[in-house]
Amino acid sequence: MNILIVGSGGREHTLGWKIKQSPLTDNLFFMPGNAGTAALGVNINLSPNDFEAVKRTVLNNKIDLVVVGPEEPLVLGIVDFFKNDSQLRNVKIIGPSAEGARLEGSKEYAKQFMMRHNIPTARYFSVSSANFEEGKAFLSELNPPYVLKADGLAAGKGVLILNDYNEACAELNSMLNGKFGAAGKTVVIEEFLSGIELSVFVLTDGKDYVILPEAKDYKRVGEGDTGLNTGGMGAVSPVPFADSDFMEKVTQRIIKPTVEGLKEERIDYKGFIFFGLIKVGNDPYVIEYNVRMGDPETEVVMPRLKNDLVDLLIATADTKLSSIVTHCDDRTAVTVVLVSGGYPGDYRKGISVFNTEKVDGSILFHSGTDFSGKQVVTNGGRVFAVTSLGRDIQSARDQSLKNAAIVAFDGKYLRRDIGFDLV
Ligand code: AMP
Ligand code: GLY
Repeated sequence: MNILIVGSGGREHTLGWKIKQSPLTDNLFFMPGNAGTAALGVNINLSPNDFEAVKRTVLNNKIDLVVVGPEEPLVLGIVDFFKNDSQLRNVKIIGPSAEGARLEGSKEYAKQFMMRHNIPTARYFSVSSANFEEGKAFLSELNPPYVLKADGLAAGKGVLILNDYNEACAELNSMLNGKFGAAGKTVVIEEFLSGIELSVFVLTDGKDYVILPEAKDYKRVGEGDTGLNTGGMGAVSPVPFADSDFMEKVTQRIIKPTVEGLKEERIDYKGFIFFGLIKVGNDPYVIEYNVRMGDPETEVVMPRLKNDLVDLLIATADTKLSSIVTHCDDRTAVTVVLVSGGYPGDYRKGISVFNTEKVDGSILFHSGTDFSGKQVVTNGGRVFAVTSLGRDIQSARDQSLKNAAIVAFDGKYLRRDIGFDLV
């Protein structure tokens, strides 16, 4: 079949790498893709948020299956657009409807969903300018630190964690007054949970689900988890503390009620669910839902998945996941992200990249690259993700670091300690 992957990052390159291995794949397309995906298929330089452009691409290239990588087109309703179009109705598309995508698009909606289905999560209170005083009162009941979340999509920047009550009130006020634009018109105040985080992924067809390998990502820019938040500086899978006892709790308390809840509420959802979890004592709580795969988690999840991904995606679209059993590689995968100097602050783009062809014994996924003529150049803060499989975290990380040292571009920066807290 002909397959279109929507998006342009390391997640999409990795999905393409995995999909390309399937005998079911004929032609592969990316919209818009990057310099890495160009080696796997055809890049189509159009915006995935332009649904008419997506439609033309699907019809012109006889696409049978569309995989939506990022959240934005999902929140904007790309799946509903397909279902409501007579020419696209029968094209398989992986991702939730706009209603389902609200689990990521609105923190308040996600919280209300969890309350309705008894899914463990931090205590919260939702504030708008109409009930600011009640918001302050709720803050005063909590112990510091205080967690403030802009309700809407804020490119991963909408969460503030503050130690001081007065500062929290001031930030609450500035969020309600546009600090994060419209995303912050509503703010969710949460009780702070103290524990260790991990990411669990499932594919659901709206009725059943399969669990994919779990992962832990490293969001802070500095070694030892210090400095500013980024999109992710690296990831590890499996996560040693996610043992079978813990995963059983995750399944019974979180995954099953979520999938059942979607079904009960008649929310059309055929796609990935990313559970951002925190382990408090021995119990899992939901920090957030995402309605897509994670990046850079995909770069360690997909290399460990043994199943044919296209087979899984077709079963998802056709509501046949109940017949599927997943298998995964017992080895450990570690990915190390190479970023542009200055990231997550200001950084340059268009810097020439060298030696990518010399990478040996790791998989080099492109996160933010482009071509300048024939030359590969940087095109984002996160530029590459170098993934290796090994018998344990150290050996997989060492292998990734060896290859990370070979890939060259001015200003390259990386963390050498991915997985440090797990060994
Ligand atoms: P989110 O965008 O919801 O994933 O939040 C970003 C980060 O803030 C998470 O990865 C956590 O590290 C942290 N965080 C969010 N909510 C809480 C909470 N209730 N307690 C502790 N940390 C939190
Ligand atoms: N790595 C976190 C995310 O994809 O949101």
